[in-house]
Amino acid sequence: MAKDNPTGRLIEGEIQAEDKLLDKQLRPRSLKEYIGQEQVKDNLKIFLTAAKQRGESIEHVLLYGPPGLGKTTLAYIIANEVGTNIKVTSGPAIERAGDLAAILTNLEAGDVLFIDEIHRLNKVIEEVLYPAMEDFALDLVIGKGPSARTVRLDLPHFTLIGATTRYHLLSGPLRNRFGVTFRLNFYQPKEMIEIINRSARLLGFPIEREAAEIVAHRSRATPRVANRLLKRVRDFVQVKAEPRATLALAEQALNQLQVDPLGLDDLDRQILRVIIEKFKGGPVGVSSVAAALQEEAATIEEIYEPFLMQLGFLQRTPRGRTVTQAAYEHLGLAVPGEQQTKLV
Ligand code: ADE
Repeated sequence: MAKDNPTGRLIEGEIQAEDKLLDKQLRPRSLKEYIGQEQVKDNLKIFLTAAKQRGESIEHVLLYGPPGLGKTTLAYIIANEVGTNIKVTSGPAIERAGDLAAILTNLEAGDVLFIDEIHRLNKVIEEVLYPAMEDFALDLVIGKGPSARTVRLDLPHFTLIGATTRYHLLSGPLRNRFGVTFRLNFYQPKEMIEIINRSARLLGFPIEREAAEIVAHRSRATPRVANRLLKRVRDFVQVKAEPRATLALAEQALNQLQVDPLGLDDLDRQILRVIIEKFKGGPVGVSSVAAALQEEAATIEEIYEPFLMQLGFLQRTPRGRTVTQAAYEHLGLAVPGEQQTKLV
């Protein structure tokens, strides 16, 4: 999937190699520094303060929402706000039950364990997690066959923070073991501009208001995309030896990257075109769209579709995907069934 096979798309919300360094540099470290997601922040503040007042470690937290909106950042912030260590891993990285047992037994009381892409945890491993989350216990099976027996090991009271882009893929028992669940949403334009100004400041170059606005406009309401585009704008500023990022320069950088005024790239447009041209605008199943584009269905669902739906270009219906009139108009295509007015 996307993480194992990055497409290299510049506007993809999914994390890519160069983001790791960038993320570290730009990642806010406290709730105060974190821009946007006001409701999540307000609830988190109460939740963290209440646990602190009771002198307890915090309950398990589930964060979900489209990629690039700050789930990992929030996990680091939570650990930082409560002053504990954070151990970071991901669903696909935990291949065997023993891997998870090793991680759990190495935790210290109060530690945060962050499991990204928790929906990709395999079912056998997930079952190791249930008693660990609920009773802070690890059930080990010793021996094989009729003489096999289980031994229960106590674990330190840790906090699991799980993150997922696919909430509905989590099993009921796993979902129920989280004390709190927060959904991250796409950012407002004003928040995106604020994030871009902050990032430009940290990256050490001045950016004009109009330039920040155009980057915000083309960043799919996703901070990770904004920061990635901003880096390319910085390259232009540097190579052209300009004192600051102007609108003209930002526009030049973004056009060269083929990111259109709404932030769509070639692949987004291809998805819409395939549905329109090969499937009469839908409804069509995501697997047929994926096959036509030689992409993974999961990648299309997790990364591409959320934003196309947010723009109102695509709808998920029980019978499949359909493209909306707004998408035809954005692509400059005639809307089916609409009378063409001819000038005589
Ligand atoms: N960088 C990435 N996401 C951010 C956010 N939500 N607030 C501040 N800086 C960010």
